[in-house]
Amino acid sequence: MRLIRAKNYDDMSLKAANIIAAQVSLNPKSVLGLATGSTPIGTYRHLVEWYQKGELDFGKAVSINLDEYCGLSGDHPQSYRRFMQENLFDHINIPADRSFLPDGTQTDSALECARYDRIIEEHNGIDLQLLGIGRNGHIGFNEPDDHFTCGCHVVNLTESTIQANRRFFDSEASVPRQAVSLGVGSILASRCILLLATGEDKAQAIHDTVCGDITSRTPASILKTHPNVILLLDRAAAGML
Ligand code: GLP
Repeated sequence: MRLIRAKNYDDMSLKAANIIAAQVSLNPKSVLGLATGSTPIGTYRHLVEWYQKGELDFGKAVSINLDEYCGLSGDHPQSYRRFMQENLFDHINIPADRSFLPDGTQTDSALECARYDRIIEEHNGIDLQLLGIGRNGHIGFNEPDDHFTCGCHVVNLTESTIQANRRFFDSEASVPRQAVSLGVGSILASRCILLLATGEDKAQAIHDTVCGDITSRTPASILKTHPNVILLLDRAAAGML
């Protein structure tokens, strides 16, 4: 794992955006694995700004997001589709038919997961996978469990994740209890992985990821088996290393 230390959130966001911009400039047809959550918002802001200045072009790129809440349609204010539209897709020129997210409203989840895995395969895998990390070490929505799940699957969210995501919803009861997530196998099959972490509430998860055993109880710890992972951390997130 390569560790890059950033001074603070803004510095982390700028460095992350530079890495993604370099990827798209070197290969305009890049397949970008994208993430939601508050962590990558600053990164997306830079990418939008550079696109609007004419410095970046997403016209040939493909994006494949990590996850979506079950039961939320794409136009629900808290859906990850809506998050991506508002924070990135509506402001850049990535073609609408090449920016993929799981469909959280599909009742046949096995079919939806198989469809999503096929999308990744058809695009020959992900070139650069952007990740945040949950306080409990989850990546995408791969929650701590007694095993890793390889492919796209439906996850029962843990109480800690429901509480962490509660801030985006009107009430606790309206936080979805399930999500469709890319599996750990698909994340590990990405050619390069860029994990961002900011703030001291991520310090324990980062410590366990970097210094702890490889275990499905800390899902991000499996990233140690990948040959090309960048951990980009601000000071607070790196505080226990
Ligand atoms: C959700 C997402 C993850 C994200 C995590 C952390 O659970 N599924 O992809 O990394 O939240 O979010 P935040 O960046 O808001 O701390």
